[in-house]
Amino acid sequence: MITAEAARPDGAEAVAIVTPNHLHLPVALAALEAGMHVISDKPATATLDEALVLQEAVERSGKIYALTYTYTGYAMVRHARAMIAAGAIGSVRKLTVRYAQGWLAEPVENAGNTQAQWRVDPARAGIGGCIGDIGAHAFNMAEYVSGLKVERFVADLATLVSRRDLDDDCNVLMRFVGGAPGVLTASQVATGERNDLQLHIHGTKATLSWNHEDPGSLAVLWPAGKSEILRAGSADIIGPARLPTGHPEGSIEAFANIYSDFAAAVRGNAALVDEQLPGIRAGVRSMRFVERAVRASADGAGWTLLEQRDGAIVAESAA
Ligand SMILES: NC(=O)c1ccc[n+]([C@@H]2O[C@H](COP(=O)([O-])OP(=O)(O)OC[C@H]3O[C@@H](n4cnc5c(N)ncnc54)[C@H](O)[C@@H]3O)[C@@H](O)[C@H]2O)c1
Repeated sequence: MITAEAARPDGAEAVAIVTPNHLHLPVALAALEAGMHVISDKPATATLDEALVLQEAVERSGKIYALTYTYTGYAMVRHARAMIAAGAIGSVRKLTVRYAQGWLAEPVENAGNTQAQWRVDPARAGIGGCIGDIGAHAFNMAEYVSGLKVERFVADLATLVSRRDLDDDCNVLMRFVGGAPGVLTASQVATGERNDLQLHIHGTKATLSWNHEDPGSLAVLWPAGKSEILRAGSADIIGPARLPTGHPEGSIEAFANIYSDFAAAVRGNAALVDEQLPGIRAGVRSMRFVERAVRASADGAGWTLLEQRDGAIVAESAA
């Protein structure tokens, strides 16, 4: 398809990659090489090494590359991010992100569920199971909304449904640069859960609380029991509204907001990438987190720095 489109005078300008993880790198490389922009489903690639190869290719190509970290497309997520950047909740003291699903609580990969089959297969999913599939969303959300960067973490990954090769549950303590602590918990074996992504950010002046199962609302908790609920579509909300307030928007609109930003970036507003739209840098960071967390958990490494200049994992004592 890419070869045929590249040969046409009116050929495709951009490619959307929506296949399982192991196909993200080869398709993205082929598209970039043919002069096309790329919008890819997360995670960027199946492994960190692949993500670094892709980063080099994106930078060399000068083309737009964006990742559909869907939750960054919600109006109230962008509003929370803008409030924190403006200092509205003071400085961030602590962050908790929870992502619970239950659809892999039974070995449905053995019962014909094709979406489960590739997700539990290291050859197609990559090195991370739950942590790569939804932990990467949680990690990206934590950094995207808070504006902080994870400096170090302790990871405890588990495989709770027997005979799986990859994790299906993960629990991570984090420290952000500057010292704020964070907790990331993600599971795909949390029986009965649907798609419960929650973000709670505690600042020195107020707490922000967002819950994916009510995505058009953002709670602002002030001291002395005073709470406010901000609603998408209201006049002072930063973040795109397609419908008047009170008309529910959801995942489709969040994806659409990301695709709209991508189109605007392709049409000349390249600064949207990284600023508002996750790009290859966010993709590499998430893959670094996934890969180092998998290894550090397996090794019982304890506190582990996320960034290592020499490329090696160095465990440090909590002190
Ligand atoms: N952004 C999000 O919130 C989000 C949500 C779900 C999935 N994803 C990501 O989207 C990607 C796909 O996940 P999914 O749940 O849609 O999977 P899926 O199994 O439902 O769909 C995968 C599709 O890829 C096709 N495919 C597989 N091998 C192919 C090949 N060699 N050539 C062409 N097509 C091929 C399959 O036929 C299928 O249509 C994954 O990378 C996943 O991590 C992102």
